[in-house]
Amino acid sequence: MTRNLRTWLLGTAAIVVAGVVVGRLFLGAPEVAASAITPAEAKGYFGLLPAVADNPQNPVTPAKVELGKALFFEPRLSKSGFIACASCHHLASGGGDGLATSIGHRWQVGGRNAPTVLNAALHVAQFWDGGAADVEEQAGKPISNPGGMASSETLVLKRLRSIPAYPEQFRAAFPDDAEPLSYANVARAIPSPPSSAP
Ligand code: HEC
Repeated sequence: MTRNLRTWLLGTAAIVVAGVVVGRLFLGAPEVAASAITPAEAKGYFGLLPAVADNPQNPVTPAKVELGKALFFEPRLSKSGFIACASCHHLASGGGDGLATSIGHRWQVGGRNAPTVLNAALHVAQFWDGGAADVEEQAGKPISNPGGMASSETLVLKRLRSIPAYPEQFRAAFPDDAEPLSYANVARAIPSPPSSAP
């Protein structure tokens, strides 16, 4: 390829890219007509959200909601003692962290964006790749993820058992269990508040 031809091709490509960028900036994305879908049709497609995203295997109870709220904001679930679920899922700003990808244990930059946790219990699956079937299966994973909260079942149970309010709260939330303060019950309690949020 001659030098002139290469310069010409690069110049043309740059003009096309610049044209597309300027066009998007000034003209905006193509608009969808406001009349494309009426509110009644939208309700037909989407239905109303339930007041509580209940799971028959893990019914939402007031005691579970209280415990789940405490655990969602509990940094002692992480190895370092300062990362909670709420560190990456800010409920007051939409349930994500506003970052392209999240920052976890020892400031490691992760590979994925944190989706909102609001109404997540209603999704058909959890995580971008559907890697967990429901929020109960999901909740234990960030706790033990080395790039997330980097803790372990043993450490979590040791910490929670050492804080007097927790054994009591687990007993209230799981009254029929022989061992209410278990790792499985941590994962059963945490999803309750977000899934019952209005
Ligand atoms: C270090 C940041 C970080 C922490 C801490 C964290 N998450 Fe996440 N969360 C993420 C990221 C990133 C994803 C997406 C991961 C993926 O798709 O593989 C995610 C995904 C989720 C999802 C799936 C939502 C969906 O639409 O698929 C739920 C639910 C969730 N997290 C709840 C929690 C809970 C509960 C905790 C605490 C036990 C927690 N997260 C702790 C960053 C975090």
